[in-house]
Amino acid sequence: MASKRGALIVLEGVDRAGKTTQCNKLVQALIERGRPAELMRFPDRSTTIGQLISAYLEKKSDLEDHTVHLLFSANRWELVPVMKKKLEQGITLVVDRYAFSGVAFTSAKPGFSLDWCMKPDEGLPKPDLVMFLQLNPAEAALRGQFGTERYETSAFQKAVHERFQQLMKDSSVNWKVIDASQNIEGVHNDITTHSLNVFNEAQNTPLGELWR
Ligand code: TMP
Ligand code: MG
Repeated sequence: MASKRGALIVLEGVDRAGKTTQCNKLVQALIERGRPAELMRFPDRSTTIGQLISAYLEKKSDLEDHTVHLLFSANRWELVPVMKKKLEQGITLVVDRYAFSGVAFTSAKPGFSLDWCMKPDEGLPKPDLVMFLQLNPAEAALRGQFGTERYETSAFQKAVHERFQQLMKDSSVNWKVIDASQNIEGVHNDITTHSLNVFNEAQNTPLGELWR
């Protein structure tokens, strides 16, 4: 009998919702429960493509908007062989941002439809669970200043938040909305519960393809 695959779990949300903290805590919690788990994040700035993206985000370079969208997508595709291998080995992947950020951020720019933005990521490994850390812009503002990277302004984040709400209407994706205004442990408990709930199904169904 083939050994059981790992689950593909994604955390999404606007900046300052606590994704990175929560991804780290989830990996720890899964390992403590005897489930092998690893953290991944997109963009992965360590690759050649990732370095182009990183320079763009740091405003060290300018890239045309369609071009950078395709680079973000290419950065996911280049990691697909690694992702599939780990999942097949029974390792659960906890991913800090995925194609949903790709679509929400680019489509928040003028002239980009959700449809156009989704195309390049069609067929990526489909997450078993996508948790959206929901935090309204007013509460996010209480968490302090934005950083200095591209996209880190309240007007743009508000547009991104709206695009995420649209994306969450897609019932082909297993979305769960998490109240990110709770304290860190409260958010962590919700995330852990949802994650443990998807294991059975993930182990008994093959990995799907996103948006197909
Ligand atoms: P980070 O702060 O999580 O490293 O993400 C970097 C920025 O890149 C963040 O503002 C979201 C944005 N982004 C995109 O525009 N498209 C994408 O596909 C991804 C993964 C992130
Ligand atoms: Mg950031």
